[in-house]
Amino acid sequence: MKKQNLDNYWMPFTANRQFKSNPRLVESADGMYFTLADGRKLLDGIAGLWCCNAGHNRPRIVEAIREQAGKLDYAPAFQMGHHKQFELAERLAGHMPGDLNKVFFTNSGSESVETALKMAIAYHRANGEGHRTRLIGREKGYHGVNFGGMSVGGMPANRKMFGSLVAGVDHLRHTHGIEGNEFSKGLPENGAEYANDLIRMIELHDASTIAAVIVEPLAGSAGVILPPKGYLERLRKICTDNGILLIFDEVITGFGRLGAPFAVNYFGVEPDLVTTAKGLTNGVVPMGAVFAQDFIYDTFMTGPANAVEFFHGYTYSGNPMACATALGVLDTYEEDGLLTRASTLADYWQEKVHALRDLEHVIDLRNLGLIAGIELRPREGAPTARAFDAFLQAYDAGLLIRTTGDTIALSPPLIIEKEHIDFAFDTLRKIIANLD
Ligand SMILES: Cc1ncc(COP(=O)(O)O)c(C=O)c1O
Repeated sequence: MKKQNLDNYWMPFTANRQFKSNPRLVESADGMYFTLADGRKLLDGIAGLWCCNAGHNRPRIVEAIREQAGKLDYAPAFQMGHHKQFELAERLAGHMPGDLNKVFFTNSGSESVETALKMAIAYHRANGEGHRTRLIGREKGYHGVNFGGMSVGGMPANRKMFGSLVAGVDHLRHTHGIEGNEFSKGLPENGAEYANDLIRMIELHDASTIAAVIVEPLAGSAGVILPPKGYLERLRKICTDNGILLIFDEVITGFGRLGAPFAVNYFGVEPDLVTTAKGLTNGVVPMGAVFAQDFIYDTFMTGPANAVEFFHGYTYSGNPMACATALGVLDTYEEDGLLTRASTLADYWQEKVHALRDLEHVIDLRNLGLIAGIELRPREGAPTARAFDAFLQAYDAGLLIRTTGDTIALSPPLIIEKEHIDFAFDTLRKIIANLD
């Protein structure tokens, strides 16, 4: 076979030179496995990128896409609509608790975040409080790569190259590494009071200037950071008491990852806006969605009936192909019980995660639902190198993992069976035990 030219494609979040010197190319995927260009199988330990929650090549999804492509390829997103947008929004709202009933479509997690931040600021203006413009994020937060999300985000490497970012943003402290929380099974006991950082921000900036707080209920990209027990509840209360909107970024926790449809259901804490993407279409076609409380939508619905209420949207918002895909995905999730299946495997998963505790390089283990974080002691003078070696060795051994910093993250498709879990952790044990 002719050797492929790898020069032109500038790969995202990738060590381009390293990759191109020894490329890892995927040829096809089915169920729990990728098949590589050389014919080897790779167990998908991270659902693609936390998105293929139903696994790969699912017939309902493939069929939905085929059918839609031959019927309606595109419909204008502005001042026009099509049936599937409305059907999808209604079905999605049915999985959200409370009054999170209004759904705005985007094309990615990053766009969902930008949309939610803009909604929050515009809501306050429509509500007669245009002075509420400040946005509060959290250290180590990841909210995508666009300017708003990057600004409220708190991962230094993602921010440092891009100048002064969006003004009027502040950050809560992160909840990683709180003493006494090491090797917690599920939610850690200590640190609910870290939510009181918001009170500090209110004292500094005054509540009347703050539009919204955005957090991931469980942070994935910065290395699987769980909320301490009571933390999210406290954040909710402080926001409510001070007229501040609370945004949950559920781009990775949405669609069954924790054993409930959303983290909103799992934690029983209701924010005002919820950002989603990834599992919405099983990663197959790009799409995101923002859920808003009814009162937010209603606040915009004033003025002349022929006036646009929210000057925001994307050419591909509610794209027919994406909607059809998402409907096929929801069918699959519902028929296979995938939005709650993680809860039936969570105990087994937890046991396997924490069985790695005796390994010399392991300094912390974290888990919730079908998520695991395995934190390795950084190699002296070479942070991230040890985890990246683990990634390469796992790949050679037939397991796809993801690493961030020195933490290995696992978030498999929710169709995973115990034998796959056994393979993943047996493989990791051998690899971590033999790392330099
Ligand atoms: C919490 C969170 N928000 C936003 C994003 C960005 O999503 P996307 O890559 O689809 O823009 C991610 C991606 O991992 C995420 O984990």
